Amino acid sequence: MGYSAEEAEGRPVIAILNSWSDLSQCHTHFPQRVQEVKRGVWQAGGFPIEIPVLAISEMFMKPTAMLYRNLLALETEEVLRSHPVDGCVLMGGCDKTVPGLLMGAISADLPAVFLPAGPMLAGRHRSERLGSGTDVWKYWAQRQAGCLDACVWRQLESGIARSAGTCMTMGTASTLAAVVETLGMMLPGAATIPAVHSAHARMAADCGRRIVGMVWEDLRPSRILTPAAFDNAIVADMALAGSTNAIIHLLALAGRAGVPLSLDRFDALSRTTPVLANLRPAGEFLMEDFHDAGGVPALLSRIPHLLDLNALTVTGRTLGANIAAAEVIDDRVILPLDAPLSRAGGTFVLRGNLAPNGCVIKPTAADPRLLKHTGRAIVFDSYPDMKARIDDPATGITADDVLVLRNAGPLGGPGMPEWGMLPIPKPLLEQGVRDMVRISDARMSGTSYGTCVLHVAPEAAIGGPLAAVQTGDRIALDVDARRLDLLIADEELSRRLAAWQAPSPRFARGYGRLYGEQATQADLGCDFRFLERGPPTPDPDIF
Ligand code: FES
Repeated sequence: MGYSAEEAEGRPVIAILNSWSDLSQCHTHFPQRVQEVKRGVWQAGGFPIEIPVLAISEMFMKPTAMLYRNLLALETEEVLRSHPVDGCVLMGGCDKTVPGLLMGAISADLPAVFLPAGPMLAGRHRSERLGSGTDVWKYWAQRQAGCLDACVWRQLESGIARSAGTCMTMGTASTLAAVVETLGMMLPGAATIPAVHSAHARMAADCGRRIVGMVWEDLRPSRILTPAAFDNAIVADMALAGSTNAIIHLLALAGRAGVPLSLDRFDALSRTTPVLANLRPAGEFLMEDFHDAGGVPALLSRIPHLLDLNALTVTGRTLGANIAAAEVIDDRVILPLDAPLSRAGGTFVLRGNLAPNGCVIKPTAADPRLLKHTGRAIVFDSYPDMKARIDDPATGITADDVLVLRNAGPLGGPGMPEWGMLPIPKPLLEQGVRDMVRISDARMSGTSYGTCVLHVAPEAAIGGPLAAVQTGDRIALDVDARRLDLLIADEELSRRLAAWQAPSPRFARGYGRLYGEQATQADLGCDFRFLERGPPTPDPDIF
């Protein structure tokens, strides 16, 4: 490899797992950042090696990047287990790369620090600031309603993604970065540094320096990822009104770490955590503003009473020590405790005869008048069925109806695509309707908004109650009461479910077959059963 013995001997070998490719649009700065991580590793007396891993592209992977999160997790674990490395820097950012890398590193349990890609610069069109996803959905609805011409649409398109980096609203990437920082697996303040700031390059070098120290201290994920760390992360998620996707990923991460965690814990902590981050889609500002306002340490400094400040982090210090000097720079972005965006947290967990194992909704992103609503179900059996009929006036949809999409869950999608923010039917858009109650076993983009009930479990594709809904049934949603119910008699529901026939497996071979056989339901995190924490995996070199 061209190194002399003096350059390598006695140095911890640091793997830099880089989830970059020409198609990973959010990671275009990673080739440069790798050099900065290496700089830090050398400076601290380590020996850096770059290992490319699966670059999951949220934009370009079919049918959904989520299908491949577990593949990245599996690759990460085996790459770390099979190579002669002592610690690792995990380079990810675009949605599923964050949980994928971390799940694998938890299972390998080598010292690890996460280097987030950082958000892209704020978007701009004329004098307006544009937010990733959130403003796409908003202006696409206007375009569908005939209020926006192609020329303006192209201007919006060219102004909304102005640099390298991840979506700069509080979407899934931003949420996961903040959650992983709070878990203790990132350096303090790292989650929000914009991708192209010089501070981001300095932070990359800091990660390189710190991981060498972590190896000498034997500071492994298993020492950091305790039940208290997960509670802290959930509190941060709720205070941010973070992406609903964070729930699935946190459940999967906890499963890897051997920490018992259920949907009920999210709902319990959401009830006591105010939403303080005034960020789109729930609020007003963008990630650049959040960073300038003090970022995650500043947010956490507003809610120390809700956190376990003794939780250990990659710094070797506690979360409390990490945030001791933090201050909020801008009260408009990180709101004061007595003036929150919402008094309860960002995501609620609902149950009922339609979702016996739970489902989720983000009330801060919904029209308040729809949070208690009963309406007629309009059922779409699949995404193609929805695409074919939703805009057809003959479907006869009214604004009071409840749109139901099924067979879009972990196995039905497959991979649980972000189809849960069903579009408002075009005839209703033209009448000015911008929100309706929508229910599915799918996920929704963290940048999206609307009265969308998501992650219904068990999903329709395995015979969950969603499979029994018929167009014309009435469905009652009561978010305050945490209920979602199909208003038919129990006997009728049982009769319909008894007549339900399971679809034949979609994949006869390959990764799709593995996914179909092993992925768990949304309320359990959609990890592969054989990858959840179990007896220790023997090191390859014992064979
Ligand atoms: Fe990569 Fe949004 S597309 S974070």
